[in-house]
Amino acid sequence: MNKEKDILILGIESSCDDTSASVIRNGVLLSNIIAGQKVHEAYGGVVPELASRAHQQNIVPVVDLAIKQAGIKNEDITAIAFTRGPGLLGSLLVGTSFAKGFSLATGAPMVEINHLQAHVLAHFIQEENEPYDPPKFPFLCLLVSGGNSQIIRVKDYLDMEVIGQTIDDAAGEAFDKCAKVMGLPYPGGPFVDKLAKEGNPEAFKFSKPRIANFDYSFSGLKTSFLYFLRDQLKENENFIEERKADLCASLQKTIIDILLDKLIKAAKETGIKEITVAGGVSANSGLRTALVETAVKLHWKMHIPKFAFTTDNAAMIAMTGYFKYLKGEFSGMDAVPFARMDIRV
Ligand code: KG4
Repeated sequence: MNKEKDILILGIESSCDDTSASVIRNGVLLSNIIAGQKVHEAYGGVVPELASRAHQQNIVPVVDLAIKQAGIKNEDITAIAFTRGPGLLGSLLVGTSFAKGFSLATGAPMVEINHLQAHVLAHFIQEENEPYDPPKFPFLCLLVSGGNSQIIRVKDYLDMEVIGQTIDDAAGEAFDKCAKVMGLPYPGGPFVDKLAKEGNPEAFKFSKPRIANFDYSFSGLKTSFLYFLRDQLKENENFIEERKADLCASLQKTIIDILLDKLIKAAKETGIKEITVAGGVSANSGLRTALVETAVKLHWKMHIPKFAFTTDNAAMIAMTGYFKYLKGEFSGMDAVPFARMDIRV
């Protein structure tokens, strides 16, 4: 391998409950290893202390495997990109400390990454022998995950602006919390998605928020869902079991309607027709179908990432690292993680 010519970025992601490492060569993906954490299932949500302990155990084997699968050696790495935030502090500390150790050991410079920017830039991950049709600037990105629901105007790789965001819960939280009330496992989003396929989306109506601008709100839906179930259970204690598929389909439709309503408004008002979606909730099959149908109707160019690049992964961290490396944006040993971070940082 010619180290002079090739830019090899090692990406490290540890912001929540996935430990991930990835290697990208000149913008093309070589490996992307993700170790999830089953330990949280029993608690119905991510337990921060348990997450950082699991990262600590996973990080070395995950990085090792990513480097092996890429067919390179530690010394070949040009720069190490790590998630600095936002996320859980204890989890971020594991990735940040690992990046520092790796940098000291190999001499590869560090590049700090904003996790939210990385979700957006996941659209630029190239894979060998796969078609490559990234979005063109400016574009809008609907970023929907367990912690975020935002509409982002993307002017350039590292120039982004949040033009709308949730004022309370995220879309993923709405899926997960309502799923929990129905007795589904954590995280509930994928279970709701699966059950919704067999249900009637028009069976039940839940409240939709009236929020100004391009902002979102999901806490009212959660409450309306909870009260509705409480009332129905008084009449029929088997209500949830008997109507689970209809409940999931109606809940999912309401969340999708809320998300699309503001996205359509944002596209109209900004005049942007290049639209992307990112984050864990973008794995939702109903949302994907609705986005494609809306794109046809409104003449949008719609970009939907592969499932592997929607949830937390290090490929998007390495990809963002590549763009920052090209701009010469490096971090020093004084880089500390931030639990909260604006997308512009
Ligand atoms: O981006 P992500 O992996 O990380 C966090 O923000 O934590 O998103 C996780 C979220 C969870 O709320 C999960 O329920 C949701 O994405 N999710 C889904 C689906 N797959 C994952 N929600 C709805 N439908 C899905 N198929």
